[in-house]
Amino acid sequence: MTLTARATSGDSNADRRYAYAQAILGEGDAAGAADLARQTLELVPAWAPAWHLLGRALAEAGDATAAADAFRQALVADPDDTLGAGLELAALGEAGAMSRAYVASLFDAYAPTFEAHLSALEYRAPALLADSLRSFGPFARALDLGCGTGLMGAALRGRCDWLGGCDLSPAMVAQARARKLYDRLDARSLEDALEAEAPGSLDLAVAADVFVYVGALERSVEAAHRALAPGGILAFSVQDNSLDPSGWRLGEDRRFHHGRIYLDRLAESRFAPLVRQDAVLRRDGGRDVPGLIMVLRKI
Ligand SMILES: C[S@@+](CC[C@H](N)C(=O)[O-])C[C@H]1O[C@@H](n2cnc3c(N)ncnc32)[C@H](O)[C@@H]1O
Repeated sequence: MTLTARATSGDSNADRRYAYAQAILGEGDAAGAADLARQTLELVPAWAPAWHLLGRALAEAGDATAAADAFRQALVADPDDTLGAGLELAALGEAGAMSRAYVASLFDAYAPTFEAHLSALEYRAPALLADSLRSFGPFARALDLGCGTGLMGAALRGRCDWLGGCDLSPAMVAQARARKLYDRLDARSLEDALEAEAPGSLDLAVAADVFVYVGALERSVEAAHRALAPGGILAFSVQDNSLDPSGWRLGEDRRFHHGRIYLDRLAESRFAPLVRQDAVLRRDGGRDVPGLIMVLRKI
């Protein structure tokens, strides 16, 4: 998925140069695109999409230092980072993160085709998680973190008395709402949703294919621990970081991959492991995407 700028710069000459720069970058002329992006910026110096495009063109031309400078300028022009300049910086090995605004806008654009696309990729994280939860529950109060269109909710609904869901993307939440499965849905981050729960009020918190967009999981795991009742369950899928098992990193697929030692350290002394299963989460480019299904019980 790539995002194109939705806004106009307010200057039709700049818009034309920008559109031309995008087109020739698509055709592989990175140097020409960088030149046109710079011309655009002469007309509209504070327009984030042009800085972002300049960064992409320079990265493709192999000038990582100048690309990082351009992405930093995009962040200055768009502090919410809807375009994902932070993610591009992380991909260049610089300090950077996937912003909430970027994730929301990515999935707002993706929502209408999400399920058809994921079905073509043989996506199975919700089915695998539901399977691994089969010997636990039923659950009085469950929260589906990053619920998307509701695939995880559909797999769990029959086993939860009350099921809530949250997601950063309002368009994904709208699709989930149309399923009429959830008792409550909120367009908000999973961290905020968990922190808004009364301590000890949940029996299950589940995140299917969501932590790949989060990176550092300390805040999420801490918030889940606080919201869960003693004996409550945190279940999630991650993509495996086999290169650095004790940490997490951004993969070439622009998703975060988490290491087993890192996950064990997060759980240590707060959760007991119930399930830790190697799994194929989906296919991508004709290849299996390896991951882990984790089920933890709050101590
Ligand atoms: C690949 S989809 C998975 C959706 C659903 N869990 C499923 O299995 O079909 C990832 C979802 O996580 C959401 N997401 C990513 N980071 C999030 C966060 N920090 N808080 C809430 N939702 C988040 C995205 O908006 C997206 O809808």
